[in-house]
Amino acid sequence: MCGIIGILSQKTDAPDQVVEALKKLEYRGYDSWGVAIGGKYIKLQKNIGKISQAVLVNDTTGNLAIGHTRWATHGGVTQINAHPHTDCLEKIAVVHNGIIENFQELKKDLENFGHKFLSQTDTEVIPHLIEEELRTEEDFKTALVKSVAKLKGSYAFVLIRANSNELWAVANGCPLVVGQSENQLIISSDILACKTKKVIYIPEETLIHIADEIEFSNLETGKPKNLKWEENKVENHEITPGKFKHFLEKEIYEQPEIIKKISQMDVREVETNAALIRHSFGTFFVACGTSYHAALAGEYLFSQIAKMHINLISAGEFANFRHFITDKTLLFPLSQSGETADVLEAAKVAVKCRAKILSLVNNPNSTLARLSDVVMVTPAGPEIAVLSTKAYTSQIAILYLLANAVAGDFAKAQCDLENLSEMLKTIFENESVEKLKKLAKKIKNATSLFTIGRGLNYAVALEAALKIKEVSYIHAEGFAGADLKHGPIALIEKDVPCIVLVSNDENKEEILSNAMEVRARGGFIIGVAPENNEIFDYHIKVPDFAELSSIINIVPMQLLSYYLAIARECDPDKPRNLAKSVTVK
Ligand code: F6R
Repeated sequence: MCGIIGILSQKTDAPDQVVEALKKLEYRGYDSWGVAIGGKYIKLQKNIGKISQAVLVNDTTGNLAIGHTRWATHGGVTQINAHPHTDCLEKIAVVHNGIIENFQELKKDLENFGHKFLSQTDTEVIPHLIEEELRTEEDFKTALVKSVAKLKGSYAFVLIRANSNELWAVANGCPLVVGQSENQLIISSDILACKTKKVIYIPEETLIHIADEIEFSNLETGKPKNLKWEENKVENHEITPGKFKHFLEKEIYEQPEIIKKISQMDVREVETNAALIRHSFGTFFVACGTSYHAALAGEYLFSQIAKMHINLISAGEFANFRHFITDKTLLFPLSQSGETADVLEAAKVAVKCRAKILSLVNNPNSTLARLSDVVMVTPAGPEIAVLSTKAYTSQIAILYLLANAVAGDFAKAQCDLENLSEMLKTIFENESVEKLKKLAKKIKNATSLFTIGRGLNYAVALEAALKIKEVSYIHAEGFAGADLKHGPIALIEKDVPCIVLVSNDENKEEILSNAMEVRARGGFIIGVAPENNEIFDYHIKVPDFAELSSIINIVPMQLLSYYLAIARECDPDKPRNLAKSVTVK
């Protein structure tokens, strides 16, 4: 995780530009931020908390600066652990994304050589290693390469040196992109920080040197790499929550329009990719978190509609199943960001096994998109709130189109999604929203909460629990209705809220029985269903469309999560401990 940026400018505004860029990178982590300004001496500024409120103090001019926004991995959220980190003499400053796996042994060795460490981070070994190499090696590039050869893990870092007008960077398993404009050269972990027209996405194992010219070389062999500039296709307009108070609320409300767009997707694209799935010898969904829940919904949709079994594996576990992957396998990763480390790792395993990759991403410029043979893009637009909402429902809608296309019924699916788009609007009607707000106030002090569903509503149960816990910090767990009685029901006592997801499908009677079992033990039953039922203590009415319940039923749960966050005075857009893009394994 973490966002990194380095700017070499012809003007003296590099530090301010770095802070502006960090605001765009904040979604990668917001535990702390820091800037190092180049010059005769390196000037450092670090702070815990969000970059959105950041201002640089004292002399902040300079044409060279690097910056960092942190998601803590090694060491607590403290000012000392904030990047940039330096060597003993503060002559080298480093910002880093990723993990140095062998930092403990390196640190021990360096301490034995007399190096003094200030932080608990893995990053700090980098400047000290280079400092150590420079004792016997005059050439900085050689010292840097020798230091990097000692590092294990996946990482990218950018560094500056005192008294030197240049940026150095290394990409080794974490993304970096270089941008060039008339006045500036930029290097960052994310294209969003590059407002330039021309960019280069840096391949792995690359050493980058930015001075008057930019040089790329292979980390191991030192041989020059000839990388080509390409047009920056990312629209860089300012993104605001508009009439809404928070991005989360805005993005939840955008869903009917996005579903409508998906209903109009190009038939050839969907049918060609449906054919890929139909003809593969084994398709594997891999994803994490919310995208995993979308894939779970997809597994049910393909089973019910296309009568096809798709394997579903949590991306971080995929390597354990590599023995089943051949050149006839289709890997189907789902990822909003396209930068999730676990998903990228699964894709790399698939590449090694020469399997084909068809990915579904919300960011067409992502690393995953570039690793894939075929890319489908969810037309959800940038998702800014850390909680995934509109990307999730878009993923499911596209899986619905694909499953129906495999079954030869694409036109029906298009029509269903168009109807769904209208139906979703009723969830946003005043009366329904007020009922959700009232419910949030009623249950806001719960210490534990459960969600249950069967069939397509199983994925909804898992996703609803995830949404509630990540934004309101209420302990919430989702279960398949049948599983509650195998242990978790021990946790039900008087007034514990249990959200029961009900659709008019073959699972209806059984999920209502499960709800009764909870009620019999004093649980407070919140029914999300087209019709009220005497078992419910509280009813959230939803449109009646069982085949698309995975989308319909999650929308009021997203809204409930938002209102719970408001009622509990939590930040709906940037919940504690989270980051939008999870770029570490
Ligand atoms: C939850 C959430 C995370 C992500 C997960 C995967 O609201 O956002 O669980 O879904 O980290 O991220 P992507 O989809 O970017 O691979």
